[in-house]
Amino acid sequence: MSKAAEDLALAGFSLDPSFVIGQVDRRLFGSFVEHMGRCVYTGIYEPEHPSADAAGFRRDVQDLTRELGVSLVRYPGGNFVSSYRWEDGVGPRAARPTRLDLAWRGIEPNDVGVNEFMGWARDVGVEPMMAVNLGTRGVQSAVDLIEYCNHPAGTYLSDLRREHGAKKPHDIKLWCLGNELDGPWQMGQKTPHEYGRLAAETAKAMRMVDPTIELVAVGSSNSSIETFGTWEAEVLEQAYEHVDYISLHDYYEESAGDLASFLASSSDMDRFIGAVVATADHVGAKVRSKKKLKLSFDEWNVWYQKRFVGQQNLEWTFARELIEDEFNVADAVVVGSLMITLLRHADRVGIACLAQLVNIIAPIRTDPGGASWRQTIFYPFAITARMARGQVLRVEPSGPRIHTDAYGDVPALDATATYDAETGEVVILAVNRATTGSLPLEVDLRAIEDRHGDLHVVDHITLNDDDVYATNTREHPDRVVPRAGQGATSDGKKVRVLLPCVSWTAIRLQPTVTNPTSGDSHARS
Ligand code: AHR
Repeated sequence: MSKAAEDLALAGFSLDPSFVIGQVDRRLFGSFVEHMGRCVYTGIYEPEHPSADAAGFRRDVQDLTRELGVSLVRYPGGNFVSSYRWEDGVGPRAARPTRLDLAWRGIEPNDVGVNEFMGWARDVGVEPMMAVNLGTRGVQSAVDLIEYCNHPAGTYLSDLRREHGAKKPHDIKLWCLGNELDGPWQMGQKTPHEYGRLAAETAKAMRMVDPTIELVAVGSSNSSIETFGTWEAEVLEQAYEHVDYISLHDYYEESAGDLASFLASSSDMDRFIGAVVATADHVGAKVRSKKKLKLSFDEWNVWYQKRFVGQQNLEWTFARELIEDEFNVADAVVVGSLMITLLRHADRVGIACLAQLVNIIAPIRTDPGGASWRQTIFYPFAITARMARGQVLRVEPSGPRIHTDAYGDVPALDATATYDAETGEVVILAVNRATTGSLPLEVDLRAIEDRHGDLHVVDHITLNDDDVYATNTREHPDRVVPRAGQGATSDGKKVRVLLPCVSWTAIRLQPTVTNPTSGDSHARS
């Protein structure tokens, strides 16, 4: 590979199959459906749409959700859940009340509720992650909801579910104990002590109904909130032994003209995860626990929050266009690198949800009664979800560093790799954060070649563009698509590739299989 004048210095790392961080948990490829704006109504659900199924859900959106590779979907909020009465959304539609949604100043008709969502989740093939209202409600409504959902039959609430058409229990395993209760914008905001007690008591009671569930305690709404750190510590001092996960939420955006810092957003996510792990482990030691808590990064994405007018400035409306950010190439590169970071923490991050799924800061956009299309961020998510398999390997990259105003000097390369021990398949995910030049990358595969023989490139996909602000729109839905990358080569022991500036790349390698009769070699497909 010849080095052009504008290329950066060589970056590289070695892969060793013994250096395993953790399994690729499919729950890392989660998303989020909230009753907010047009995520549910005219997003996943639109009975009048030409593609709607018998239950009123858009088939075009279901297909895109499957193509996205989403494994799990959190529901029904978000801020919405903190004043939600789940009973409003079950039973005959004609009798369901229309309510004010206090979080987003929405008019909520309750046409979709827990049973409809569970039908949708089953059809699409995603695991549900259900949130209970610990803002305006508490232990009793959470216990009632889990009895309604998970108890087989023979009690008032389980029989009510059966009367409502759901004969079998929904058997929902994963539950969020509220949402962002540290935030002043939240209905029923709590101090960490108040929330910690409530989370512990709710967890205890919910497990009395169904001991097989997994529970997520609310962590900080973002890493810049004043109470970050003390919130986690105080909440976990009350609730550590009662929960399985602590949540993290964060959104990233480019501040005026500072693309370099934006492209390094994953350093911030990395620090955030490290700090929550340290805090959780500190409390674990303090309470003499034998278990290690996992992290649920159940809201993450790019979100141009500075453009949001604020809830207080909204009129009461049904299914309004709300924060339907149009994502560009740089946003997709950042989403790709945030996924790299989540995978690099596969030992502790067990759940992650790209927020949200449709229309609201989402990979999928829809027009009411019309088309649906993929935003730029759809691609790194879908390709990572499809390709990442087996174990995440430890990667210690060397190479050039670039300066950012927000995070100081950061490596130009952000990368991770997965390895399937059975087949020997390796997937390298890499981002070139530099805005000034291409980045030559060399990955040493010899320790894998020792076990499986020579490795050859079978896929090389890159997302980049001369215009980093190019977007996909309803008029030009395929303006930005990933393309077959150029020139990744492998001599069986080392793979070499040139990563374009501001780009996200996936490279899949497989061991060569030799046909015993002809002696021909080819990569395993
Ligand atoms: O995803 C949008 C909103 O962001 C969610 O409702 C809330 O939990 C977060 O602040």
